[in-house]
Amino acid sequence: MSNPRHIAIIMDGNGRWAKARGLPRTAGHKAGVDALREVIRAAGKMDIPFLTLFAFSSENWSRPRSEVTDLMGLLKLFIRRDLADLHRENVRVRIIGERQDLAKDIRGLLDEAETLTVRNTGLTLVIAFNYGSRNEITRAVQRLVADVASGVITHEDITPEAISVRLDTADIPDPDLIIRTSGEMRLSNFLLWQAAYSEFMFLPCYWPDFRPSHLAEAIETFHMRERRFGGVAAQEIAL
Ligand code: IPE
Ligand code: IPE
Ligand code: MG
Repeated sequence: MSNPRHIAIIMDGNGRWAKARGLPRTAGHKAGVDALREVIRAAGKMDIPFLTLFAFSSENWSRPRSEVTDLMGLLKLFIRRDLADLHRENVRVRIIGERQDLAKDIRGLLDEAETLTVRNTGLTLVIAFNYGSRNEITRAVQRLVADVASGVITHEDITPEAISVRLDTADIPDPDLIIRTSGEMRLSNFLLWQAAYSEFMFLPCYWPDFRPSHLAEAIETFHMRERRFGGVAAQEIAL
């Protein structure tokens, strides 16, 4: 089987990683950023065309205010510190999620990251920030209805494709592989539409312990999976 074109990762377990070391949760988030930085570089070297990282969910606002502030601060710091390097490494940055609710300075940084790197041809790094699938699908439906109302399309033009192109992930292929760290086995409102035929891997390690070697192992395991997309395995047809 060919290499996954798109790997999406639910980076989970920062809090538990910190707790196990008697550290505050923020320390776990900081260590998580270090892990993320390494994984982005590794994915580029492994010739993965698309890497999506779930960084902040639309439900994460329900965390204590200080933790939300820390997470916002880490995103800002990451973009300020790493954007130039990413650009130099030919990485194209895309952001998915609801931007309207974000602070102006964060929106500015997200726009800057996308604009600066838009013509890059290496790894496409998709950062899911303030992202939730139900919110994304709801916004896509609002756009569809508006397009029908204004006569751009009719109700018969509403196809799965018409929905896909109105999602934040328009022109990003569906993930072939979704990895979640920390042992939790759920999607937590991540890429519900796009994950229709994704392969799933749930790893016990906490996100700050995730290394490029875990990514390489996950890709190896991916190669052993048989994807059928509702069809019949090739060797069965031959019989
Ligand atoms: C993932 O780690 C980071 C974010 C969700 C932002 P968590 O903060 O969820 O860590 P746990 O799940 O509490 O260990
Ligand atoms: C999912 O992790 C969101 C991110 C990794 C950004 P959570 O830790 O928020 O998910 P739940 O609450 O355990 O489902
Ligand atoms: Mg968690």
